[in-house]
Amino acid sequence: MEQINIALDGPAAAGKSTIAKRVATTLSMIYVDTGAMYRAITYKYLKQGKPEDLDHMMKHTTLQLTYDASAGQRVLLDGEDVTDYLRENDVTAHVSYVASKQIVRNFAVQKQKELADQKGIVMDGRDIGTVVLPDAELKVYMVASVDERAARRQKDNEERGISSNITQLKQEIADRDHYDMNRDISPLKKAEDAITLDTTGKSIEDVTNEIISMVEELK
Ligand code: C5P
Repeated sequence: MEQINIALDGPAAAGKSTIAKRVATTLSMIYVDTGAMYRAITYKYLKQGKPEDLDHMMKHTTLQLTYDASAGQRVLLDGEDVTDYLRENDVTAHVSYVASKQIVRNFAVQKQKELADQKGIVMDGRDIGTVVLPDAELKVYMVASVDERAARRQKDNEERGISSNITQLKQEIADRDHYDMNRDISPLKKAEDAITLDTTGKSIEDVTNEIISMVEELK
């Protein structure tokens, strides 16, 4: 399906990326993980010792997303593939702060809009339906209980070889949501024309199929 874009927003660990990947594969669309862009910039911010002057850092930053059927999305930061570092705890702990900065958002949003120009994109994030793709043909706002989201993230981490504590994960998720929902610029919120999809207790297949049905209803 070439002619539509799908915007998928929601709080941390709501299953957006898993579902977005499935939907994209089923409909032969391209999945764009916008959180990975903010994570890559955060990785650089940490590597540079948390500079105060983010304007200067961003002026000397290049970011490129590449797609490959087997490797999926890869993130090239200043020419280096940093994809494997983006889920590290330190990056996760600082990403909301970095993503709240205007210079960082301008940089990332411009790239996201360019990527979506060609259509056929499933893009997930926090402000896709509200800011990046306000004209997306389908907007979904995915939510799930904090308990379930923390359990999913723990399983995810295990598969990546990262150990985590469920209580800490719950706190981290709740803190990040609070920060993302209350920042001044492009806070996480449901677009008025988005469909809310509560995934608590639902399988990946069920949620994927619900979104495919929503796409079919657009025809
Ligand atoms: O989706 P993910 O958990 O990788 O996103 C990491 C962080 O990046 C979010 O908590 C949020 O602070 C930021 N983000 C954002 N806007 C987006 C995507 C992610 O501010 N479109």
